[in-house]
Amino acid sequence: MTPHVFPDARQVAAFVADQIQTLLVEKQDAALGLATGGTMVPIYDELTRRYDNGHLRLAPASAYLLDEYVGLGCDDRQSYKRTIEQLLASRTDLSAQRVHSPDGSADDLATEARRYDRLVSEAKIDLQLLGIGGNGHLAFNEPGSSLASRTRPVELSPATVSANSRFFPSIDAVPTMAITQGLGTIRQAELLILVAFGDAKSDAVRLALEGPITAMLPASVVQLHENVVVVLDEAAASKLAVLHSA
Ligand code: PGA
Repeated sequence: MTPHVFPDARQVAAFVADQIQTLLVEKQDAALGLATGGTMVPIYDELTRRYDNGHLRLAPASAYLLDEYVGLGCDDRQSYKRTIEQLLASRTDLSAQRVHSPDGSADDLATEARRYDRLVSEAKIDLQLLGIGGNGHLAFNEPGSSLASRTRPVELSPATVSANSRFFPSIDAVPTMAITQGLGTIRQAELLILVAFGDAKSDAVRLALEGPITAMLPASVVQLHENVVVVLDEAAASKLAVLHSA
């Protein structure tokens, strides 16, 4: 699994956008697995730029989000559904009706999680974008998540609440629960694209790609997938042995 390493986020985003554009040429109605978080922002900016230039058409495609906060309605500005609508659907021809996510305001979270797991499984995701947490989480699968886990309600680790507080007015406003696709659910995607920027991700990236496959580093599950593209900036890649071995 040799990563693609670029000097900056813009070039990483261009490479990832190339992968998505190629897929959409082959399969216009592709099922795109989308992620949220700061890492994804330059990628959605680049897709928007290509849409504006007439190089990309998302209308026949559909989108499935990895996760959603519990306790925020779908219309809440901080919800991941709204985030994707703002970053991509409202700026391109991707219809908001074709953006699917778990409903974090559902009364029965376990039933909602099972519904979403079935939806994602039936959709057969063609390409799944993935960020990685500094603690090695994948989506909201925190350390200790079974590598076979399915979509379910989860508690966020203190590290994740703290990391995500930058998107909220205060740390107290950050939800402490979410519904997340499980690691077993994510692994069903045809292609995984793992993206990371910055030194703060370098240890997690090294452990995910070169460490033991373990529930304590959930992103290490990508080593079990036969079709993974890893795209990093130089800082995120800086601790990888594969880049320093002769
Ligand atoms: P980030 O989050 O892109 O905001 O760093 C990634 C993640 O936590 O999975």
